[in-house]
Amino acid sequence: MLRAGRLGGACALRLLLAAHTVAAFEPISVGIAIGAASALTGYLSYTDLYCRFAECCREEQPLNASALKQELEEKLFGQHLATEVILKALTGFKNNKNPKKPLTLSLHGWAGTGKNFVSQIVAENLHRKGLKSNFVHLFVSTLHFPHEQQIKLYQDQLQSWIRGNVSACASSLFIFDEMDKLHPGVIDAIKPFLDYYEQIDGVSYRKAIFIFLSNAGGDLITKTALDFWRAGRKREDIQLKDLEPVLSVGVFNNKHSGLWHSGLIDRNLIDYFIPFLPLEYRHVKMCVRAEMKARGSAVDEDIVTSVADEMTFFPKDEKIYSDKGCKTVQSRLDFH
Ligand SMILES: Nc1ncnc2c1ncn2[C@@H]1O[C@H](COP(=O)(O)OP(=O)(O)O)[C@@H](O)[C@H]1O
Ligand SMILES: *[C@@H]1O[C@H](CO)[C@@H](O)[C@H](O)[C@H]1NC(C)=O
Ligand SMILES: *[C@@H]1O[C@H](CO)[C@@H](O)[C@H](O)[C@H]1NC(C)=O
Repeated sequence: MLRAGRLGGACALRLLLAAHTVAAFEPISVGIAIGAASALTGYLSYTDLYCRFAECCREEQPLNASALKQELEEKLFGQHLATEVILKALTGFKNNKNPKKPLTLSLHGWAGTGKNFVSQIVAENLHRKGLKSNFVHLFVSTLHFPHEQQIKLYQDQLQSWIRGNVSACASSLFIFDEMDKLHPGVIDAIKPFLDYYEQIDGVSYRKAIFIFLSNAGGDLITKTALDFWRAGRKREDIQLKDLEPVLSVGVFNNKHSGLWHSGLIDRNLIDYFIPFLPLEYRHVKMCVRAEMKARGSAVDEDIVTSVADEMTFFPKDEKIYSDKGCKTVQSRLDFH
């Protein structure tokens, strides 16, 4: 009992210091809260308790694959391919004790089809606080790296951020939105971190996860979906192999896409290319219903229909796919 107490003391000091650096909570109050809680429960480990109050980077915490599966199946509409690949990629990576490189996912598709939405779900399943976590980092090209003249600065900044953040938490998650608008020079700066190195200057990046989002290839993915529709085939029958040649033309061999310039693809640094299909009228309706539920109001089918009817659909004749996916659903709902 005495020994356990002393160990607890030493641990408390370390944890208080940790709390200070993480700055998630005021350290003294966390200490008191933990003290009180451990006196009450007595059997939970100190770290467990600490992590309940403040945020911890738990590298070894397993991914709850069934929870992620359930969440994707319930919340992500019309993206059977993305659901399948993301689930497979993440469970495979998290179950691997010794990954040879960080996990890199490249999400492609039309605007408003759920790329950011999925990234948020993934973030929440990896780190409890999701995008607000200290271990999840979102970069938006046009917001964080807008000026071409400052590439050098961005490169240095980004490298030191990634190094600093991965040193603090090996299982950090980095999300790069608008990858197709990112200057190739900036992509070059992250390239070394994605590679098969055991470590760089004493830091191993192998447990980190990088997610890249872009619209590149979205038009060709849409064309494939449309071909299926015109041939009277089901959307759910579209398979990855139907889209691989499409992505290879639209993304891999497209000299105008930032990804091509960067050599990320040449060097096989991207583990999975994940296509997002354009959303249909029925999916837009599902988004409206989900948004109504999220706001705590009852689902009113008249409003669902009128919001969905306000969206614009293409191609001109058939009007199958929503121009902006589900993107403007939330603001439109405000008017009803
Ligand atoms: N496939 C989808 N399933 C459910 N909701 C979606 C889907 N696509 C988009 N949404 C909704 O529309 C919003 C905007 O989508 P977003 O993920 O930002 O699109 P993008 O693909 O451009 O990143 C999301 O916050 C989400 O509420
Ligand atoms: C995983 O998630 C499922 C569904 O949300 C839940 O019932 C289960 O208890 C979770 N398992 C663990 C080990 O947390
Ligand atoms: C971690 O990344 C953020 C940007 O998301 C940056 O502001 C911060 O300085 C980085 N931390 C370290 C220790 O480099």
